[in-house]
Amino acid sequence: MFNWKDEYSCNVSEIDLQHKNLFELGNKLYTIVSLSQKYDRFDEIVKTLEELRNYTIYHFEFEENLLKLHGYENIEEHKKQHEAFIKKVTSIDEEYMDLNQKKVSMDLLTFILDWIGNHILKTDMGYKEFLNNKGIY
Ligand SMILES: [Fe+2]
Ligand SMILES: [Fe+2]
Repeated sequence: MFNWKDEYSCNVSEIDLQHKNLFELGNKLYTIVSLSQKYDRFDEIVKTLEELRNYTIYHFEFEENLLKLHGYENIEEHKKQHEAFIKKVTSIDEEYMDLNQKKVSMDLLTFILDWIGNHILKTDMGYKEFLNNKGIY
């Protein structure tokens, strides 16, 4: 399970809210995958994964637009990271997932949550001061 910590805060309320929503979706997926030992939850897993993917795309776009609007310098590198993540999450083979449901979904979920956590701490933090200096909180 993923727990939000203060160190994840970018000090911009809308961004923090979106990051929290991402982890909430991750936790929702975690709960479903945990239950999948007893029951076949494949449809639910795929649905929640899609929800997570769509929300991630929404969040990335929001972030990129905000950074673009304020003339953030490192936008291209930041965007590249977002794109690579979307590509990876979109390339999941659902057939393979169905066969190894629990293991594959757990591995994937761990990857997603690790990636998001790391990205917030290392890359998103890079714009914290920048946006705050522009008066964005
Ligand atoms: Fe980002
Ligand atoms: Fe972000």
